[in-house]
Amino acid sequence: MDKNHSYNYAEAVEVTRGIYWVGSHDPKELFHCNPYLLVDGEEAVLFDPGGVTDYSEVARKVFSIVKPAQIRYVVLHHQDPDLCASAPLLEEAIDHGQMKIVAHSRASVLIGYYGIESEFYLVDKNHYSLTLKSGRILRFLTTPFCHFPAAIVTYDEREKVLFSSDLFGAISPGWSLFAKEGYEERMRVFHVGYMASTRHLSKVMERMATLDLEMILPQHGSIIPKEMIPGCIDFLKSLPCGIDAQETEEELYGWIRVGKADEKKHILIVEDNGKSMKLLRDILTISGYVTIEADDGRKAVELAKEKKPDLILMDIQLPILDGLEATKLIKADPATQNIPIFALTAFAMGGDRERFIQAGCDDYVSKPYNIGELLGKVKNILAG
Ligand SMILES: [Fe+2]
Ligand SMILES: [Fe+2]
Repeated sequence: MDKNHSYNYAEAVEVTRGIYWVGSHDPKELFHCNPYLLVDGEEAVLFDPGGVTDYSEVARKVFSIVKPAQIRYVVLHHQDPDLCASAPLLEEAIDHGQMKIVAHSRASVLIGYYGIESEFYLVDKNHYSLTLKSGRILRFLTTPFCHFPAAIVTYDEREKVLFSSDLFGAISPGWSLFAKEGYEERMRVFHVGYMASTRHLSKVMERMATLDLEMILPQHGSIIPKEMIPGCIDFLKSLPCGIDAQETEEELYGWIRVGKADEKKHILIVEDNGKSMKLLRDILTISGYVTIEADDGRKAVELAKEKKPDLILMDIQLPILDGLEATKLIKADPATQNIPIFALTAFAMGGDRERFIQAGCDDYVSKPYNIGELLGKVKNILAG
């Protein structure tokens, strides 16, 4: 595993010894589903195979590694269609006299409605563990109401890997197989409207923190490598989510695309620091906005005129033309003067606010960003 390596997503990817990512990849998609295949000698276990729409690609990748008869178990961590609707298609490809569906009995009642004929291996009737022929033990942990009442995750003792299903999932513009810096914010967007409450999530995270983990393999988002695991667990442990999020319905479910792309608001980000630009791009894209980018003041003035964005986020210290000068020019041009501008500044101290307002800025946001405050201001001005 190498985080910076570029992988060929058209093929299965071995993420650690004998464990493969076998998902389908669409660079435009915000919501990725990740099935995984564990190969253990003659036996193979498939986790959360996915929906009907991804089936042909997932099946191609799976059967490029194992023969259908090798798949002895298909683990379905809960009953959602994005992880198990393809199970009946798999049964056609695999001799289902051989194959068992591994699930919690409460999920199995619902999974049955997909028309599955295979025998179930019910984890709650089998001490929450499954021993493979080689002696390798898979353990199952319940994650109550995260998000299904009887949702489970799987811990592979040998590789110290957690197949975490919806937990640790993320919404991912510019998806990559391995999680990168800023992954917490991507998880926040997913968990906030998906998990029942902070108490439920926090309890589950306390349990996850006791596991000896090398890697977390979520069903959505990206794989979390060892060094990022404690930070991700801590982040989710205290995340206000579900009933505790105190967000509007729109904020809770904002990442679910409902409008057409051309109905989305366009925001011009003017920022010469690549890291800050990326952070803003990620936050705004995840929140459903389309971003336009300029890395100096002159380009900002040109793009404001050409693209007529709905809002401009303007860094103050910029090359060629600084943010205040660029703001003055944009506000002096009748073609662009009505576009609201927020100054982005690391040093909003006494007197600065007046300078920004005098130059024509409608408001300012201080760095480091408080994401909730930033999105609140953006949303308010765009609604007005
Ligand atoms: Fe789910
Ligand atoms: Fe899911």
